[in-house]
Amino acid sequence: METRRLPADQAGIIKAAQALKAGQVVGVPTETVYGLAADALNPRAVAAIFEAKGRPADNPLIVHVLGKAQAQALAALTPLAISLMDAFWPGPLTLVAPRLTVVPDIVTAGLPTVALRAPSHPAMRALLLESGLAIAAPSANRSGAPSPTAPEHVLADLSGLIPLVLDGGPCEVGLESTVVDATGALPLVLRPGAVTPEMIAAVAGDCLVAPSAMRPLKEGEAALSPGLRHRHYAPKAPLTLVKGPPDRVAAHIRRLCAQEEGVCVLVLEERLPAYQGLSTFSLGQDLGQAAHRLFALLRQADEAGCKRILAEALPEEGLGLALMNRLARAADFDIQSV
Ligand code: TXA
Ligand code: MG
Repeated sequence: METRRLPADQAGIIKAAQALKAGQVVGVPTETVYGLAADALNPRAVAAIFEAKGRPADNPLIVHVLGKAQAQALAALTPLAISLMDAFWPGPLTLVAPRLTVVPDIVTAGLPTVALRAPSHPAMRALLLESGLAIAAPSANRSGAPSPTAPEHVLADLSGLIPLVLDGGPCEVGLESTVVDATGALPLVLRPGAVTPEMIAAVAGDCLVAPSAMRPLKEGEAALSPGLRHRHYAPKAPLTLVKGPPDRVAAHIRRLCAQEEGVCVLVLEERLPAYQGLSTFSLGQDLGQAAHRLFALLRQADEAGCKRILAEALPEEGLGLALMNRLARAADFDIQSV
């Protein structure tokens, strides 16, 4: 199959809407990462998503909607879910709510709940409007690879496997949405993202974070969010995170670099002087830039032939929690404290 790449303009959106209505899958831009879209209420179209991604069938998908009215046709919304939608939609927040029977089993991997998100990206909103569909879309990468934050990443992973990618340029946020279980009285963050626990607590009074958001699941432990069971976001080169006081971290990383060929160092811009003479990738000036760049840099490190990536741990507050969640998973929890 040849994969077409069309600009995400009016003509491209009309083509993409036609493809979705015909049961095909399409790569689409969102403000977080690129998604691999299909008609959420067409089980055969949704099956094509799992096939193209090589995604395990036990990992449910997010359904994208225009807003609350469309969400209400798919799930039984709790007062908590409604207040979070009012505060953060459209935007990078996914809410898990009890599903209604119209939602096919394949979308929710058989769970009694469905994950819903109203994206803010204008092209994705235009596509929702033009197609009139609810759109199921996981990140448009091969399962396990870093999420795609540019159309080139979608093509690198899925060229020849899908008919169409809408090119909306690089994604603004760069990390996947915050996933929140809103089935109870208190919000529970299953996957941290750009809508932080602090922001959610300001609306809901409090916000819990699932412990499994920051550590590996224990043997036999049930995953609240099935996606947490699988290795994620991983570059081909092994990644190690180093945590501790800045001077000791730098000394440790420099020592490791001296022992091995082909090591690359991934740090914030302000930390580059500590690694002069080494092969470095800059995450940028602040955590927002780091989120925007992280997945692209992991892909770049592979392309540059890095044999191992060493990254400084980041503070786990605000957006840092989401960054550390992705880094820890990309490292398969190889975190060294010094
Ligand atoms: O930003 C995003 O969320 C992107 C864009 C395309 O919208 N999508 C995305 O989808 O990251 P995906 O499939 O890569 O991640 C969805 C996450 C997975 O961890 C999955 O297990 C979880 O949401 N999830 C989906 N349905 C769920 C449910 N009913 N209960 C708990 N977790 C659920
Ligand atoms: Mg994903």
